[in-house]
Amino acid sequence: MQLRVLGAAAGGGSPQWNCRCDVCRLVWEGDQRVTPRTQSSIAVSVDGENWALINCAPDILKQIQQTPALHPREGRRHTPIASVLLTNADVDHIGGLLNLRESSPFRLLATPMIQDVLRGSPIFEVLNPDYVSRESIALDQPFALLEGLQARLFAVPGKTALYLEGDRVEIGVEGESTVGVELIGNDKRAFYIPGCAAMTPALAARLDGADLLLFDGTLWRDDEMVRAGVGHKTGQRMGHMSMSGDDGSIASLAELSLGQRVFVHINNTNPVLIADSTERQAAERAGWQIAFDGMELSC
Ligand code: MLT
Ligand code: MN
Ligand code: ZN
Repeated sequence: MQLRVLGAAAGGGSPQWNCRCDVCRLVWEGDQRVTPRTQSSIAVSVDGENWALINCAPDILKQIQQTPALHPREGRRHTPIASVLLTNADVDHIGGLLNLRESSPFRLLATPMIQDVLRGSPIFEVLNPDYVSRESIALDQPFALLEGLQARLFAVPGKTALYLEGDRVEIGVEGESTVGVELIGNDKRAFYIPGCAAMTPALAARLDGADLLLFDGTLWRDDEMVRAGVGHKTGQRMGHMSMSGDDGSIASLAELSLGQRVFVHINNTNPVLIADSTERQAAERAGWQIAFDGMELSC
């Protein structure tokens, strides 16, 4: 199984268009300790020929341009992208679908609830149904994401997309709105979970023994955006558990047997983005890699 991190940042990217937080400022200034990162998406393949995107960021055009494996290869119109799978309906995960509208066939896969959200936004009707087949995927049922690559969606604690929140927001809800993906190919198991509000015993048990885990690395600490002076929301309010702390991802996954552990969906305020930060060093000492755009992984 080959995986490429197309975009390692969370919503907004790094640097974010309107942000001069301590980390974004370094990226704007071209500081060598940080590199720009686009928004959250990965690509996966088993044969190197046919690829599935998991999530489709507003930056997908740039991501395809930067990834030779995703360039058109033959004839006048072609794409190696056979499937696009969504883990939630956040803007950073669906915005790029509008770029994939020029009549090449692919499968668009998501839970029934996420498919309903897309149906509710008429702008997505630009995806011509003669070419794009929308398939609803039930939780916990294995399905073929690509030829030779099985996948399974499962609920993780999360929340509804920001633009659908309304007056009352349920945080940590487990259902079809926020899912993780298990990838099963050549007897290897990889997990991709770019958004997760909390670790549960059931989720930890599911992940134990995996060859590769790509996990929600949004924030280092829960009040990071408040302390950075860029907002009033905590990670919990946004539906993301933090890396640090007793109930953070580093501690709560420490005892698991995992081949590789990689943080993805990293918010632009997160100090792990700075190569020599104490937070980066702490994450790496705990066995975690910090994803970057173009990162190649295999298992
Ligand atoms: C998130 O992951 O919390 C969202 O992508 C935030 C957003 O919509 O910008
Ligand atoms: Mn996001
Ligand atoms: Zn920033």
